[in-house]
Amino acid sequence: MSQIAEVTIDGQNYQFPVIEGSEREKAIDIAKLRDQTGYITLDSGFKNTGATKSAITFLDGEEGILRYRGYSIEDLAEKASFLEVAYLLIYGELPTQEQYQQFEHEVRTHTLVNEDMRKIFEGFPVNAHPMGVLSSLVSAMSAFYPDTYDSTAEDVTDLHIIRLMAKLPTIATWSYKKSKGHPVNYPNNNLDYCSNFLSMMFALPVEKYEVDPVVSAALNKLLILHADHEQNCSTSTVRLVGSSQANIYSSISAGISALWGPLHGGANQEVIEMLEAIKADGGDTQKYINMAKDKSSGFRLFGFGHRVYKNFDPRARIIKKAANEVLTKLGVNDPVLEIAKQLEAAALEDEYFVSRKLYPNVDFYSGIIYRALGIPTNMFTVMFAIGRLPGWIAQWKEMRTNKEPIGRPRQVYVGPAQRDFVALESR
Ligand code: CMC
Repeated sequence: MSQIAEVTIDGQNYQFPVIEGSEREKAIDIAKLRDQTGYITLDSGFKNTGATKSAITFLDGEEGILRYRGYSIEDLAEKASFLEVAYLLIYGELPTQEQYQQFEHEVRTHTLVNEDMRKIFEGFPVNAHPMGVLSSLVSAMSAFYPDTYDSTAEDVTDLHIIRLMAKLPTIATWSYKKSKGHPVNYPNNNLDYCSNFLSMMFALPVEKYEVDPVVSAALNKLLILHADHEQNCSTSTVRLVGSSQANIYSSISAGISALWGPLHGGANQEVIEMLEAIKADGGDTQKYINMAKDKSSGFRLFGFGHRVYKNFDPRARIIKKAANEVLTKLGVNDPVLEIAKQLEAAALEDEYFVSRKLYPNVDFYSGIIYRALGIPTNMFTVMFAIGRLPGWIAQWKEMRTNKEPIGRPRQVYVGPAQRDFVALESR
């Protein structure tokens, strides 16, 4: 028998259906709450509010489980390529060999970016943050593909999806090249996705650049681990913007902006800066633990805590292991890895962190790997965005396919009650 939830307001009883997801999570469907009772719910930060039914990603924060379309993150990170995972997220199934070849070929052959986009890029100051540049240029892409304004036809949307997947890495490398005073590199369509990105980042016209397979494999893994994470801040932003039927480029651009914040994707940059600060301060991890516990300090331990995980973030486990492996293989000795491990060990024994169930999240160790790969700190969140792109696309597509209504939360108004206008000369 299907369950119901009962609410009593002023002695009157109302019933609402309980719906159950495929992993047994339960939700009270309050779609008719206001119609029936005149009341709304208030849930600041949406801590208890499901915004949608989604078939893309499952995560169990208590158990530390993460799956894309039913496949465990551990399996995908170990055995799949990033483009395979992108296909899985966007189209719902792992691709057959033929589907994969076609998808990979399409992405590979759309990497070139319109030269006029370069002119827009040239206008940015040399020290512009790469996330601001990325968000602006993705938004600008809508002007180059105006058929996206009416992207109801599925084949048109598919082409925009390919364009976004193919061109985001190209655009992402421009900021780095400019910051170094180096010419930008054109994509090389003979290379696979990760190798092409690395080559655009690091190749110079004056010498031969060989992609290190260790670096490329590490990048592949990191991108997979970031590829989707259900209704987080940036993904919800993409869905909300897209729900007004805004085009896919504007929606993704908004997601990039949301990701930039230090409480979300921007945390990976903050973590490395924090670890560097601890190192420069003599490596006293306890001092920073104490600061994080002191609410008046305004300091948080970046890379710790998560809205949904109240256990180890499974991505953090994989990344910690990968950080050890990659640094060893590349022969990199980064003292901040030791500081990170000490900080983690100290926090996991501290009553403050234990009682609040604060564990390392995906951003805690990822920056250490990015740094070993040669990626500069201000590009870390850009790397997150490249990884998250297929997730955003999949979520945008699901929202459009399901014809979800425009997102429009309500509020409880707490401002002044009605009052009379006072003319300026009388104030
Ligand atoms: N350091 C110190 N205290 C913390 C931290 C932290 N990193 N995170 C949470 N707390 C405390 C918080 O002060 C609160 O304490 P109290 O109950 O005494 O008021 C309690 O733990 C619950 O925290 P919250 O802020 O209510 O939890 P939230 O779900 O709203 O926030 C979070 C989640 C990720 C924003 C937060 O844990 C945080 O700011 N972490 C640091 C930033 C970070 O690493 N962000 C990346 C998140 S994972 C990747 C992603 O989403 O992009």
